[in-house]
Amino acid sequence: MQHHISLKTYNTFGVDASARNFIEINNEQDLNTFFIQGVFQQEFFVLGGGSNVLFTQDFEGTILKINNKGIQHFIEGSNIFITAAAGEVWNDLVWYCIDRNFPGLENMALIPGSVGASPVQNIGAYGAELMDFFYTCRAFDTYTGELKTFTNQECSFTYRDSIFKTKFKGRFIILSVTYKLRIDNKINTSYGAIETELLNRNITSPTIKDIAEVVSFIRVQKLPDPKTIGNAGSFFKNPVVSHDKLVTLKEDFPTIVYYPFINNTFKLAAGWLIEKCGWKGKSVGDVKIWNNQALVITNTGQATGKEIFKVSEQIIDDVNAKFQVILEREVNIL
Ligand code: FAD
Ligand code: EPU
Repeated sequence: MQHHISLKTYNTFGVDASARNFIEINNEQDLNTFFIQGVFQQEFFVLGGGSNVLFTQDFEGTILKINNKGIQHFIEGSNIFITAAAGEVWNDLVWYCIDRNFPGLENMALIPGSVGASPVQNIGAYGAELMDFFYTCRAFDTYTGELKTFTNQECSFTYRDSIFKTKFKGRFIILSVTYKLRIDNKINTSYGAIETELLNRNITSPTIKDIAEVVSFIRVQKLPDPKTIGNAGSFFKNPVVSHDKLVTLKEDFPTIVYYPFINNTFKLAAGWLIEKCGWKGKSVGDVKIWNNQALVITNTGQATGKEIFKVSEQIIDDVNAKFQVILEREVNIL
């Protein structure tokens, strides 16, 4: 166990905060050892790639950095089962599949972070969501020291949410995830930006590799690279509203951007709402709302977690005042 470790390089916002205790988890046995030592009876936080967290203060408990590795697969009829250790980089897993021509995950290429975090917020991008390919995960129960396997249904996946963010928040440590792909998964070009970029490249029959490359290209144009500009992707979720609310909003704001969601509800583009409040490209000290995507808050220098959080509060207030819509943060605040 290490003490008083700077977390600056362990979070993609690049904010400085320190952890009182810091442990690396390389295998299941490490967890058993720390369970016996009583580590989980005190405050702790499980950290993957740190691409969806904001440290607003020093962490007085123990950070568990998940580092276990390994990817395996087996094929059964038309199904491909791939099991990856939680500490694997998500994009490496995507390319493991592409290199073997296993279709399914390519639309989620280049999402930062780890395999272990992928079910936590049910990651998604460009027309695909993790829940469509998640089969099971194995997780360590910090209450009992036992291992539990969660099925897809047991995870209660929905948009940017799962049981690991709700009922079991902070309880289970995911050790590995098994994905189920199908040899005959159809290539998904439904997201407008993918179609446009395929046309630009004169690609009429794309392969899964083409899709991953096109998605990666689009992402790089739109989103800041955390290696050079601190950020955690979308800071807020796209808010979901009722049909009645949408009708009212459309009367006042005819160009509002929205998408049909489930059960006659609609997702509003939070980026559009934030932009219309005048925040796009705006800076408060070293906190800047990204020029190309108002949903992304960036740290352009030495911003603190507290400063970033404060700007996020101002954005929530402004969006609420203008649209009577409450934005919910996607990023995990500590
Ligand atoms: P962390 O930030 O380390 O942790 C996130 C949460 O998961 C925390 O609550 C943590 O405790 C928990 N957690 C992590 N590992 C485990 C584990 N093994 N067991 C239990 N709990 C765990 N997300 C999308 O969905 N779609 C996108 O398109 C997208 N684009 C992004 C673009 C950029 C530039 C950035 C910086 C982020 C983006 N994100 C996106 C957010 C981020 O990539 C995902 O949330 C990712 O899954 C976070 O992985 P991580 O390993 O960095 O998790
Ligand atoms: N828009 C604006 N102004 C902006 C940003 C967006 O008007 O500044 C409008 C535009 O009309 C644009 C639309 O919003 O066409 C949608 O924008 P975009 O395609 O960038 O998608 P998003 O809804 O803003 C979501 C996810 C991203 C994911 C992309 C692609 C959430 C919270 N965000 O963003 O995920 O990569 O779709 O699928 O659902 C993340 O979760 O961290 C993340 C980056």
